[in-house]
Amino acid sequence: MKIKLKIFRCDPMGKGGCEPFLQAYDIEAKNGMTILDALHLVKDKQDGTLSFRRSCRSAICGSCAVNINGFPKLACKTQLIAEYKKNEAIVIEPLSNHRIIKDLVVDFNPFWEKINKIEPWLNPVKGFLTEEDVSPISGKAFFKETSNGVNRKGTVSHHTSSIGKQAILKINDSSKCIMCGCCNGACNALEIDKHFIAPAALAKAWRFVGDEREGEKKKRLEKLSEEHGMWDCIRCIHCTQYCPKDVKPLRQIERLRAEAIKQGILDNNGARHVESMVDSVKRVGRLDEAAMTFKTLGFLRSLGMIPFGLKMEMHGKMPMPLIFPQIEKIEEVKKIYEEIEKRKRQVEVKVEK
Ligand code: SF4
Ligand code: SF4
Ligand code: FES
Repeated sequence: MKIKLKIFRCDPMGKGGCEPFLQAYDIEAKNGMTILDALHLVKDKQDGTLSFRRSCRSAICGSCAVNINGFPKLACKTQLIAEYKKNEAIVIEPLSNHRIIKDLVVDFNPFWEKINKIEPWLNPVKGFLTEEDVSPISGKAFFKETSNGVNRKGTVSHHTSSIGKQAILKINDSSKCIMCGCCNGACNALEIDKHFIAPAALAKAWRFVGDEREGEKKKRLEKLSEEHGMWDCIRCIHCTQYCPKDVKPLRQIERLRAEAIKQGILDNNGARHVESMVDSVKRVGRLDEAAMTFKTLGFLRSLGMIPFGLKMEMHGKMPMPLIFPQIEKIEEVKKIYEEIEKRKRQVEVKVEK
């Protein structure tokens, strides 16, 4: 069947600078063809000037991520005919939230800088990896490599660890990342703040914070709790929705946040917001936005939020902040909290035993 592709074109280095436009190409689509196959066909047969990235053609290397009909996807993993039938069009554009270099090629330097920032290598607890401690499935290879300093900056394979199955499962999803950038391309927080560390680096950060052998968890979490860090995520869930490898970046961000709170890293707006939210539901059975703002931002900074609060009030988005009524069945909410506390204590007793 004949399909019309509309492909984003732009050449900032060319004459006249970048004036983006969509260029149409008609191709003969065959069953089994991917979007990447279609791009190759255009480049080979119709227009050699078209630029795009690819390498493995097998959803492994992560280099062919582009926007297809508005959503970030791997071109080599997306079936052309199925995509066309779903949308009655094929529009291919560069990944959002990235500077365009040419056509579908974007600048990945900021992406790698952020990955580098989280120090994507293991800093094992001293003495954790002794010769005796290495499990039968893993091996001495890992012990030897890390003990002499080789591979300190590499990603550690699951099969070379001494951690148990449960511990492996905890970091399994974050280990599946192929660094394609689809999550960053879909991230709403990154769209408004280019300094936001963004989901790919945060998912990778959990790979190490969640590793039982990691010796610098607290230091990592403190760094991730700084401005533009993990608390700036607005939980829109796009990263998880568009990740082609089921890494579930938002899940890893939630794990990082929970671990930071567990480790007592509370001196930041994000942790304070969580605490005030828990406190508010416990106290009145719902969110008391006015009190939460004061607890999160402190008195002075909260004053600046008053116009915003009034606007919310006018649109019925904020219940009366001063005479805030408890919900009717507040006692039931309190019982839930008591039950949680009871279960927590039971778990602690079990662990102590
Ligand atoms: S959930 Fe957070 S990190 Fe993920 S895309 Fe949304 S804002 Fe970005
Ligand atoms: S988390 Fe998923 S979407 Fe993000 S870079 Fe890794 S594989 Fe790609
Ligand atoms: S070309 Fe490697 S992931 Fe698509």
